[in-house]
Amino acid sequence: MNDRLQAHWQTVYSTKAATSVSWYQPEPTVSLALIAACDTHRDTPRSAAIIDIGGGASVLVDRLIDAGYRDLHVLDIADAGLAVTRARLGLQADAVEWIIADITTWQPPAARFDIWHDRAVLHFLTIPAQRAAYFGALRSALRPGGFAILGAFASDGPQNCSGLPVQRYDAPDFAEALGPDFTLSEERRDTHHTPGSAVQQFQWVRLQYQP
Ligand SMILES: C[S@@+](CC[C@H](N)C(=O)[O-])C[C@H]1O[C@@H](n2cnc3c(N)ncnc32)[C@H](O)[C@@H]1O
Repeated sequence: MNDRLQAHWQTVYSTKAATSVSWYQPEPTVSLALIAACDTHRDTPRSAAIIDIGGGASVLVDRLIDAGYRDLHVLDIADAGLAVTRARLGLQADAVEWIIADITTWQPPAARFDIWHDRAVLHFLTIPAQRAAYFGALRSALRPGGFAILGAFASDGPQNCSGLPVQRYDAPDFAEALGPDFTLSEERRDTHHTPGSAVQQFQWVRLQYQP
């Protein structure tokens, strides 16, 4: 665990309203569409095991519960972000696994998840060794045939997020970083409007893991 990084995010979630941070979105429209598009070959689509990496205070898990998904996991380095979501969900929070971990050191259960979702977390990993650790965890955690849904600032997006430098991505950058075991199923660009009315360009990809 990177203590300084964890302290940064704990402070963010302890001092700012979840609805005021630049990445806040009232509806995770693109994420939900990309998740719905995944054919995970489970008995029912809603039995897919989904993990939201760096979920923080995002309402994605709320919407997935409402949609009937039952095998849900949210990981974040900052307990304070997850606490916001748990409080919002009330008793429904008991149906979700909450994981406090740094994604660059987390040891995931092998082949456990059908869908790995990440909005605006990977782009903070600006050091090659951090990205290698992230992609190692992703490969280990995903079932063969599972999907990685990744959203990061696009090449014409901001150079910083939450006061931290970011690495920006276009669709081919994700595919190149992940290598030939991942097939690009879909890509999208999205314009995010922050609560402060700034505009941020995101690049999204949906890739299938076929080792
Ligand atoms: C920009 S916010 C995005 C939050 C959420 N995905 C959303 O779309 O609302 C980045 C999130 O990633 C978490 N985070 C940052 N670095 C992390 C790391 N190394 N491991 C796990 N979580 C991390 C932060 O605590 C924060 O909740």
